[in-house]
Amino acid sequence: MSVNGPTRVPFILDTDSAQDDCVAILFGLLDPVADMRAITMVAGNVGFEEQVRNAAMTLAVADRLDHCPIHRGCTQPLTRAWASASDVHGDGAGGMTMCIPEGMVSTTHAVDAMLELTSQHPGEISLVCIGPLTNVAAAVIKDRSFVERVKSVYIMGGSNNGRGNITAAAEFNFYVDPEAAQIVFEAGFANVVVVTWDPLTLRDGLLPRSEYEKLTQLGTPLARFFKKLCDHTLAYDESVGVPGSTHPDSLTLACLLHPELIVASSPYRVDVETSSELTRGYSNMQWDKFDAIPNAHVVEAADSKAFFARLRDLLSTATTPALPITGLDV
Ligand code: BDR
Ligand code: CA
Repeated sequence: MSVNGPTRVPFILDTDSAQDDCVAILFGLLDPVADMRAITMVAGNVGFEEQVRNAAMTLAVADRLDHCPIHRGCTQPLTRAWASASDVHGDGAGGMTMCIPEGMVSTTHAVDAMLELTSQHPGEISLVCIGPLTNVAAAVIKDRSFVERVKSVYIMGGSNNGRGNITAAAEFNFYVDPEAAQIVFEAGFANVVVVTWDPLTLRDGLLPRSEYEKLTQLGTPLARFFKKLCDHTLAYDESVGVPGSTHPDSLTLACLLHPELIVASSPYRVDVETSSELTRGYSNMQWDKFDAIPNAHVVEAADSKAFFARLRDLLSTATTPALPITGLDV
């Protein structure tokens, strides 16, 4: 804490904004220590322009239209056809929609924004990557010195010797662009932190329906927005035996902003399967028993109670949406 308030954490949020990605954006906008410098968009969960709209709508509902630029990035994986998760997320926003004001989305490409911001502030800015890793891999390919300029990389992806979610072997973000993920893990970034699907999200990033309903009834526009964002995914998750609303992306950002939420983590060597079709995107996570040089810290346990208490505080914030959002009662 400084005399001027808490020390703020600068970062770029790289996202495929649908459902919990938008919750992560809310953390980026409203958490007192968050200093979100840019939102960069990557192909992932739902249609690219739906994702852009979902991000813009999240800025609007929080009354933070001018908070930071939104940049369109890579619209497909490095070498593969795009695979969506619209069966899980619908349109990613529960049918809400909004007209994006002219000029709200930057004309600078996401990869160039990453390169420029880290050149202006070398060693200061972290990346929080909550979608496929295509933009980050493209930045590495375009300018190798990018790697040295990034403070840390927080990644939502993979499972730690556990279940996948898009296939039995693979978690969605790594499955969509496994080549990009492998480039990022091999790049030599100084401090890579991984928040996994299984077991971490399924245990510590999971909000049981009874608790979910308490949050959705807080009575604020943000709480109503949250319900619209998450209802579809909650119904999907319950239909496949996941007992609650899943929050992997917002948990990833929260771990950067509030490191005390990380209760346990260990060094691992992480590699992502690129050659097998059967296990495409599988994250091979070798712990210290094996003779491999670690390239990441994998979060093994998080303080779920403290994380969801933060989410509750955030959704309790009274905001007046800056623009009309169709489908949201305010
Ligand atoms: C990840 O995939 C997406 O559907 C979510 O936004 C999250 O980033 C979970 O596998
Ligand atoms: Ca995501």
